[in-house]
Amino acid sequence: MNILGIETSCDETAAAVVKDGREVLSNVVYTQIPLHQPYGGVVPEVASRAHVEKIGPVVGEAMRQFGSKVDAVAVTYGPGLAPALIVGLNAAKGLAKSLGVPLIGINHIEAHLHTPFLYDAVPDNTVPRAVSAAAGNSRLGDAAGETHRGTVESSFPALGLAVSGGNTIWIDMPELGQYEVIGETLDDAAGEAFDKAAKLLGLGYPGGLKIDRISAAYLASTSTSDLNLIPFPKGRPREGVTALSGLSADLCVSFSGLKTALLRHVQQHPELLSDTSDARDFGGYTVTPAVAQVVASYQEAIVQAIADRTRTALKRRAYKSLILGGGVSLNSRIRAVLMEVSNAVHVPLLMAKPKYTGDNGAMIAGLAYYRRNHLEDAMTLDASPSLQVGE
Ligand code: KG4
Repeated sequence: MNILGIETSCDETAAAVVKDGREVLSNVVYTQIPLHQPYGGVVPEVASRAHVEKIGPVVGEAMRQFGSKVDAVAVTYGPGLAPALIVGLNAAKGLAKSLGVPLIGINHIEAHLHTPFLYDAVPDNTVPRAVSAAAGNSRLGDAAGETHRGTVESSFPALGLAVSGGNTIWIDMPELGQYEVIGETLDDAAGEAFDKAAKLLGLGYPGGLKIDRISAAYLASTSTSDLNLIPFPKGRPREGVTALSGLSADLCVSFSGLKTALLRHVQQHPELLSDTSDARDFGGYTVTPAVAQVVASYQEAIVQAIADRTRTALKRRAYKSLILGGGVSLNSRIRAVLMEVSNAVHVPLLMAKPKYTGDNGAMIAGLAYYRRNHLEDAMTLDASPSLQVGE
C-alpha cells in the first residue's frame, strides 16, 4: 500500500510516498529556516504564506518521483501552528477527494516516533558529520537494509522519547498505536532551549546543530578525565509543583532554570561575548574556548537531564525498545549518552536516519499505514494545534 504523507505543522513543507509503512519511495522537504532566521524564530504568518506557496510544488515533486497513483493520503492535523496546519490539511483533503482515495489524519509527535522504522528504497549513504560516529551505533534506520530486520510490532512495548523544537515528551507505548504520556517538559522543549541559548550567545537561529558541533569539538579538545564543564542545573522540577499536572517529577524536565543560569553566567562574565581575541575553529564555527566551554556545558545539562529521566522511565516496565525521534534526536551527544543508557538495561535504542529526524512527510505516510483505521472520517478533521498524544 503506497501512502502520500503531507506535513506542514511548523516550518517545513514536506511530502513523501511510503510503501507499507516503511519503505520511502519519494521524499521532498522544503525548509523555511532562511525565511525565519531574521526573526530568530518561527513566525506563524510567514510560515503559513510559505506553505501556501510551496505545497503544490513539494507534493507535485514527491508524486513525480514516485510516478504512480497512491492508495491513500495522510496529513498532519496537529499539534502545530494553526495557520500552517490548515494549509497541509486543505491540500490533503483536496487531493484525497480528487484521487478518490481515503484521507488519514496523523498526530505529528506520534509520527516522529515512527521515524526509526523508515528506510530508503534507494540507499543513501550521506550522514551529516555531527552524527556520523553515534549514528553508526543505531540499531535501525542508519543503513538501508538493516531496517528490514525486526518487525515494527516486535519493538513493543516501547518507551518513546520525542525531542524536537516543540516537544520533549516521554511516552509509554504498550502496543503499536497505544500512547500514554508519562513525562514531559514543564516549559521549553529541548530544541527551544538550544535555540534560545544560541541566540543569547550570538550563534544565530536555529542553534541546535551549531551547539552540537561546537560542543563535540570542545569535548574532543579536552581530556576525557576532566571535561571541565560549568555545572549548570540539570532541569529537575520540584515534586508537587502544579505544572506537573499529575505527572511524576522524576519523569519531567524544566529548562527555565537552566536558561536563567546561562543568562546570569553571561551577565557575570561580560568578557565572554566581547573578548574574541583567542577565537578559533570549533566544529566549523569560530568561537573562543570560553564560549565553547559554556556551549558544551549547557548542552551537557540538557543531555544529562534527558538521560536521567529516560533511565528512570526505562525502569517502569520490560520495554523491548527505546524509540527516539524529533529534530533534537540528531544531537550526537544525546545519541551517544542514550546509547549508554539503553545498553545498560539491554533495551535496544532505535534512532532515525539523520534525514528523518527533522519534520518530513515520510513519517506521516509511514505511521498512517499502521494507523489507517484510527479515525472514522478524516475528511471532517479540523486542524488541531494542541492535539494531545494518543487522542
Ligand atoms: O523536529 P524539528 O525539525 O521541528 C519540530 O517539530 O519542532 O526540530 C527542530 C529543532 C530545532 O530546535 C533545532 O535547533 C533542533 O531541532 N536541532 C538540534 C540539532 N539539530 C536540530 N538540536 C540539537 N542538536 C542537533 N544536532
